[in-house]
Amino acid sequence: SGEFDVSSALLDWYDRHAREMPWRVAPADRAAGVMPDPYRIWLSEVMLQQTTVAAVRDYFVRFTTRWPTVQALAAAPDDQVMGEWAGLGYYARARNLLKCAQVVTEQHGGTFPDTYDALLNLPGIGPYTAAAISAIAFDRPETVLDGNVERVMARLFDIHDPLPGSKPQLKKHAAALTPAARPGDYAQAVMDLGATICTPKSPACGICPVQAPCAARAAGTQSDLPRKTPK
Ligand code: ADE
Repeated sequence: SGEFDVSSALLDWYDRHAREMPWRVAPADRAAGVMPDPYRIWLSEVMLQQTTVAAVRDYFVRFTTRWPTVQALAAAPDDQVMGEWAGLGYYARARNLLKCAQVVTEQHGGTFPDTYDALLNLPGIGPYTAAAISAIAFDRPETVLDGNVERVMARLFDIHDPLPGSKPQLKKHAAALTPAARPGDYAQAVMDLGATICTPKSPACGICPVQAPCAARAAGTQSDLPRKTPK
């Protein structure tokens, strides 16, 4: 993408258009030094694994009102956690949630570990969630690759190889763009771009902050990307 600074353009856009979310620290507050609560970032990322932001919002507020800390959640009876989870689906997530809260409370003194490798060892935390928590809660330059990020990368670089085979290629592009400064805000900026502008159907290229360097936009292929291997 030549001289165009993609990560700076996305961060500038995020400063103006970040979506408000109950677990999020707004970019202005983050710039003033406010750090997110790792417990809230962890809980939101686990809830968001197979569920949309819109569906998660009210569950997240109820959970954190009832159990404001990881210690409080760790002490909760199993049936009450399952009851609050009811409707979110994928109930293994809720069982791992309680297990993880107990491990953090009993083996880490109630403080979430702050590295990708340590997070990956916790129940229910896979590579995606470990990267997301490292980036968002601890501002580490980890590469967060979810469906939104895959779509943004496939389009920016006009990648026609189908998913899932193209994942390593998309991840390399995503890693190369991840900035050393503000990696947490950057991760959320790419997710927001994918959710609101670089959408699966009818992407709003005309108002996209990275339309200038977008290879798919130049080729007119944006609506065909990412390709997927038929099941
Ligand atoms: N999807 C998963 N995590 C997200 C986040 N932190 N912001 C927006 N969308 C998300």
